[in-house]
Amino acid sequence: MNIGIDQISFYTSQYFLDLRTLAEARGIDPNKYIIGIGQSKMGISPPDEDIVTMAASAAFPLKQRGALDNIETLLFATESGIDQSKAAGLFLHSLLDLPERCRVVELKQACYSATAALRMAMGLVAMRPQNKVLVIASDIARYKLKSPGESTQGCGAVAFTISADPRILTIDPEAGFYSADVMDFWRPNYLSEALVDGKFSTLTYIKSLKASWKQYAEESGRSLEDFSRFCYHIPFTRMAAKAHQKLARGISEENLERVIGESLLYSRDAGNCYSAALYVGLTSLLDNAEDLSGQRIGLYSYGSGCVGEFFSGVVQPNYRKSLLTKLHQTMLTERAELTFQQYEDIYHYGTPTDGGTHDFPQYRTGPFRFAGLQSHKRIYEKT
Ligand code: HMG
Repeated sequence: MNIGIDQISFYTSQYFLDLRTLAEARGIDPNKYIIGIGQSKMGISPPDEDIVTMAASAAFPLKQRGALDNIETLLFATESGIDQSKAAGLFLHSLLDLPERCRVVELKQACYSATAALRMAMGLVAMRPQNKVLVIASDIARYKLKSPGESTQGCGAVAFTISADPRILTIDPEAGFYSADVMDFWRPNYLSEALVDGKFSTLTYIKSLKASWKQYAEESGRSLEDFSRFCYHIPFTRMAAKAHQKLARGISEENLERVIGESLLYSRDAGNCYSAALYVGLTSLLDNAEDLSGQRIGLYSYGSGCVGEFFSGVVQPNYRKSLLTKLHQTMLTERAELTFQQYEDIYHYGTPTDGGTHDFPQYRTGPFRFAGLQSHKRIYEKT
């Protein structure tokens, strides 16, 4: 039985900061960000946008086309958790009117968790092929102001359904994966910004890629020539380019652009979306490439800490009819640009912890917003 991605939808916040603005404020040559890091803009979520509203906004177009009608399980991947106990997906249960007969769970392993969710979803569909699983990855990447990671912040969510006989991408059974106990990037429960050993994290990303690819190649018997495109976890687009250069030693700039270029377009403007980042890349590839029907693409998922996995999938005939390309492109072009002062004000907004009633200011969001807090309870509303 073929199992894989049947529908996919991407959402990012309605605001961005241009990295040239950040560079000017920090006294850094903008080319370090634009060329060296490979990022143009970073998505910034205002106070009334969080992982729940972004996830709901990503899933909403799927709901509108009836793709969530027989969902039995919702797996919510994030590393920007909003509660130590309650799964963020349960807020979506009401926002999206999901059926009562639906399991809802939250998963964590840094940016890898959406791929863990995909694997679990495939297992559930293999057992009950008549049902579908909704996977949502939603994250806000946040580092300390003025730190090297600041320019790699971002936010976004991807919602995708896993089904039998999928319309977009069947996932191959072969995979190579790798884990190690490392401290390359982490966020203790008491901090709202991630801590990172930046250079070390780029090395562990590559080490894990090499080990995962080696296993995958041995198990599948495939070589790099068997793939028409590659999608990588994208903390910043230069990282994905460097990763591919490690596998395809000596690849020309032209060929590098051909095999990964389209997958980097959305991330260059949205920034790191952590658990969603690989799937933002996949959406960007499918939306922007020529017809890829019948072609195999390679995917590399990486989550600090660390777990990596190389896997692959085959693009299905007529997949373009299922894409939300126009919606994604309009969303990205219609975002509002923030001034540097607005960016810092939003950064410092914070979440009150006194248990009082707090109404959050209304910014532009998608169809849902985080309205505020009452007795430590988060209140969401439709816009
Ligand atoms: P840095 O150390 O300040 O940057 O921050 P740098 O000095 O290494 O410069 C970056 C690149 O820009 C270099 O290119 C420079 O040469 C170039 P490279 O040598 O690497 O090819 N450069 C310029 N280029 C053109 N014109 C200029 C110029 N100046 C410099 N004028 C660092 C880099 C990655 C450390 C930082 O951004 C950081 O800490 N980021 C956060 C961590 C991160 O994203 N790690 C990636 C791997 S781990 C991962 O992907 C997991 C993650 O998503 C989290 C999770 O799993 O949950 C992060």
